[in-house]
Amino acid sequence: MALVPLADLLQKADQGGYALGAFNCNNMEIVQSIVGAAEAESAPVIIQASQGAIKYAGLNYIIALVRQAADGTAVPVVLHLDHGTSFEQVMQCIRFGFTSVMYDGSSLPLEENIARTKKVVEIARVFGVSVEAELGRIGGTEDDISVRDRDALFTDPSEAEKFVAETDVDALAVAIGTAHGQYKGEPELDFARLEEINRRISCPVVLHGSSGVPDESITRAIELGVRKINIDTNIREAFVGAMREALNDKPAEIDPRKVLGPARDAATEVIRKKIRLFGSSGKM
Ligand code: G3H
Ligand code: 13P
Ligand code: ZN
Repeated sequence: MALVPLADLLQKADQGGYALGAFNCNNMEIVQSIVGAAEAESAPVIIQASQGAIKYAGLNYIIALVRQAADGTAVPVVLHLDHGTSFEQVMQCIRFGFTSVMYDGSSLPLEENIARTKKVVEIARVFGVSVEAELGRIGGTEDDISVRDRDALFTDPSEAEKFVAETDVDALAVAIGTAHGQYKGEPELDFARLEEINRRISCPVVLHGSSGVPDESITRAIELGVRKINIDTNIREAFVGAMREALNDKPAEIDPRKVLGPARDAATEVIRKKIRLFGSSGKM
């Protein structure tokens, strides 16, 4: 089927009390893993590409791969831009067929983030494209955040209320204790903050940096209103881990399919588990 906008799926997820998995892709095999997992689980799914993925694979390749994957399946598929920090690139993705974009103005002062996000929403609406924004600093696991810093970097619930009321975004990514990449210890999520944000805003909440977050915390976050959950690192670990294993087993192997095939299978398994954890299995 044709690619679908994120907003439609989020509305259903909100009614059903589950979350949609948003999985990062960089190449054909990962796109196939994501769609294969969604099909096996009869689940709606979000395939997202970061600016880095677009730089690596090329925008036209990403669009063609994901369109092809969506056309060949009955499960609803969203093509989403992840962490679009360039206004021009966000516009390009809207024009070229993405059905959802993230405009990430989280490094900007609040008023500037609001102004730019609002502009993206105005234009995206004309094309029927959904918009996710970010408030607060999610960062990476390499950023050592002290307890004192956490409060300054985490999303302020009253700012979130103002942000969503003024921008009318379809989803808001929040900083509540997760980070991108591999965690050194166990991440501690600020559930009280999440609960208050969810109470104050009218759109669903997005959780970034979700690889390595314990299952119980994911389940609690969904109970508190998270409806889109981003996973990249766990896919990378499974994919590259399986490639490494295949090459270690057969160091003389020269057929890329013998290395990439097991990697694709390993990624599919990880994604299926996430889909089940998020509760979107059987929700197509
Ligand atoms: O949010 C970050 C994603 O894991 C994408 O990472 O910019 O290396 O593609 P990337
Ligand atoms: P992880 O790589 O930590 O899973 O985060 C993914 C993400 O948030 C993409 O935007
Ligand atoms: Zn992210």
